[in-house]
Amino acid sequence: MERKNNIILIGFMGVGKGTTARALVKASDYFAIDTDDLIESIEKRTIKKIFKKEGEAYFRNLEKKCALWLEKNVDNTIISTGGGFFRQENIHNIGKVIYLESSFEGILRRINKSPNAKAKLRKRPLLKDLKEGKKLYEQRVEDYKKVADVIVNVEDKDIEDIVKDILGKI
Ligand code: S3P
Repeated sequence: MERKNNIILIGFMGVGKGTTARALVKASDYFAIDTDDLIESIEKRTIKKIFKKEGEAYFRNLEKKCALWLEKNVDNTIISTGGGFFRQENIHNIGKVIYLESSFEGILRRINKSPNAKAKLRKRPLLKDLKEGKKLYEQRVEDYKKVADVIVNVEDKDIEDIVKDILGKI
């Protein structure tokens, strides 16, 4: 299948994939969707509840279904993703993969700047324990780079600069 004209934002939890997608919509003709939002809406419950009630494997299966649906049905769209979505085998058929890169410490700085930092940590089951979160980051960081078509460093950057950087590279 020919690759679609979507822009897929990947990266670790809290790096700003959703924020970046929303800013890109304002700065371009693109519209955006978010894989976690799609899953929450079809399940009519939060990711946190899905993890708690059904476990991670159930959630990953929904992500896989979502990835197959995106490949078949979505085009010309910015797609922000959950932090584990980059493992989907068909990701390159969906579109151009942009990795939002930051150190783990940079991500924590970004989260802690937010007025609802606690809620941001609470809603992410895999970031509840920061030591575990850092381990997961370290397990994934090289793989994010391998999957990426484009790497955009976002650490301590203003959203305007991130948007400019991405628009210049797509
Ligand atoms: C996950 C990241 C979350 C969400 C789920 C699992 C992960 O999305 O999909 O909690 O495996 O990294 P965000 O990256 O938007 O927090």
